[in-house]
Amino acid sequence: MRDKVVLITGANGEIGHGLITKIGQENRAKIVALDLKSLDESLIPYCDRFIQGDILDNMLLGRLMAEYEITSIFHLASLLSTKSEYTPETAHKVNVEGTINLLRLGVELTQWQGDSVKFIYPSSIAVYGLPDLETKIREGKIKEYQWCTPITMYGCNKIYCEHLGRYYSRYYRQLAKDRTMHSIDFRCIRFPGLISADTVPTGGTSDYGPEMLHNAAQNKPYDCFVRPDTQISFMAMPDAIKALLLLEDAPRESLTQLSYNVTSFSPSAEEIRRFTLEAFPKAEINYQIHSNRQNIVDSWPLDVDDSPARKDWGWEPDYDISRSFNEYLIPAIRDRYS
Ligand code: SER
Repeated sequence: MRDKVVLITGANGEIGHGLITKIGQENRAKIVALDLKSLDESLIPYCDRFIQGDILDNMLLGRLMAEYEITSIFHLASLLSTKSEYTPETAHKVNVEGTINLLRLGVELTQWQGDSVKFIYPSSIAVYGLPDLETKIREGKIKEYQWCTPITMYGCNKIYCEHLGRYYSRYYRQLAKDRTMHSIDFRCIRFPGLISADTVPTGGTSDYGPEMLHNAAQNKPYDCFVRPDTQISFMAMPDAIKALLLLEDAPRESLTQLSYNVTSFSPSAEEIRRFTLEAFPKAEINYQIHSNRQNIVDSWPLDVDDSPARKDWGWEPDYDISRSFNEYLIPAIRDRYS
């Protein structure tokens, strides 16, 4: 008998930290974790097995298939938006080819196991691309099917991988004689900018939010790289984890679409600065605009419409902006750096 597990790629990343801790603490499932880098010590007790390796290594993925019965794949590994602009072709390799490898693993596992493997995929507000600020302000809350014209490699990768998820779950090898109808159960969440108390993101463009806060807590001056009035949606990490697990648990029949927006609050950069300064009044936070990164954030929606997620799988955030700061981020970050 092979062990029943969930597979988590990008285990060492921001979402990986939150997800592994939550699944581990609640004993929801056995975890096999995969990451290029060695696993943070705090996560080791929660994982049944950690494999340091590459999602581009198909031999490695094949071995996993031989060893485990994988019920869900949380495919979190990716290069974020800013980093991807520096090395677009590498980003494409990691974000797209890596995802194809995992999708294929999911399909093969499904065929062996007879049960659809759930493929939980974090996408992003980066799939949207508003042409200018005026349109962004006029459009307000964006629905899943609107403005899917990303201006970053990362955004292009994410929207394409959403299509791949649809293809692998519904049309994979549709002309083959031996085609089986049984395929993966692809479920995707488009996340806004995420803010965690435990980790700082690397290489994203919504990073000004978390960076402001983490630098302030460490008494380090910080130059915010977008204008004070810059607005996109954000979410505290516990809500992001809640969303992933809610979507994993949802009965398949209740899902009316493959990709869902989720959001919690939509602060301006200045509002994040104000919340940060309330907690750390001596913090030195200034603005030094990086015009190209500003362009990227300006192309992302001011807010998203997450009503399908609310209706189909009971999504609702627990943390609005003041609860995020006052009850989660500030106390935990104080603790962390004290
Ligand atoms: N937080 C991501 C980034 O900034 C967007 O999903 O790249």
